[in-house]
Amino acid sequence: MTVKLLAFAGSTRTGSLNQALVDLAAREARARGAEVTAIRLTDFDLPIYHGDLEPDEFPAAALELQTLLRAHHGLLIASPEHNGTISALLKNSIDWGSRPVPGHAIISGFRNKVAGIMGASISPFGTLRSLTHLRHVLSTIQTIVATEQVMIPFAATAFDAQGALKEPLPAQLMGMMVARVIDLAERLEPPVS
Ligand SMILES: Cc1cc2nc3c(=O)[nH]c(=O)nc-3n(C[C@H](O)[C@H](O)[C@H](O)COP(=O)(O)O)c2cc1C
Repeated sequence: MTVKLLAFAGSTRTGSLNQALVDLAAREARARGAEVTAIRLTDFDLPIYHGDLEPDEFPAAALELQTLLRAHHGLLIASPEHNGTISALLKNSIDWGSRPVPGHAIISGFRNKVAGIMGASISPFGTLRSLTHLRHVLSTIQTIVATEQVMIPFAATAFDAQGALKEPLPAQLMGMMVARVIDLAERLEPPVS
């Protein structure tokens, strides 16, 4: 079975360090035999979540995101740290992805998925706080989060010219985290294509 992973970052800023990090995770996963679909969250025209939109105007982009989530075994998510937590872009996308769609029998696009989480920040904390929040949020919506996670402090100088991590420890952790995600994904129910 080929494991299918959906990869995205919680920042789509030009030069995003988290985009660089999730690109690396995708490369690692492909090298280990997984099929990776890389998306950018701002390519989905998601409004700020509002409950009034749910019954009659469920956004087409939210449905599109949920369909993509359902078609993959798991996720590779790189989260920036914004004021000690995950970015608004990432939280809004997760909120829309987790809502039941009227007329569809699914509980949440995130249910029965496995996730590998990582984050890059320019501070010495290396997204520890945002990844702790992300793990909590994903667990709340029934996503199994791999125990290994990759945190990159001082991230502005952490990547070499080829986009690889300069420090051996996080590079090794990346391999371990991706291997865990693939291993867990192979044990889950197959995604809906
Ligand atoms: C609104 C805002 C809040 C931030 N808060 C934090 C923070 O709490 N901790 C931290 O380590 N970095 C913080 N940063 C700095 C980010 O780590 C830095 O901008 C990083 O490059 C963001 O990820 P990106 O390169 O993927 O966009 C903040 C940046 C912004 C724009």
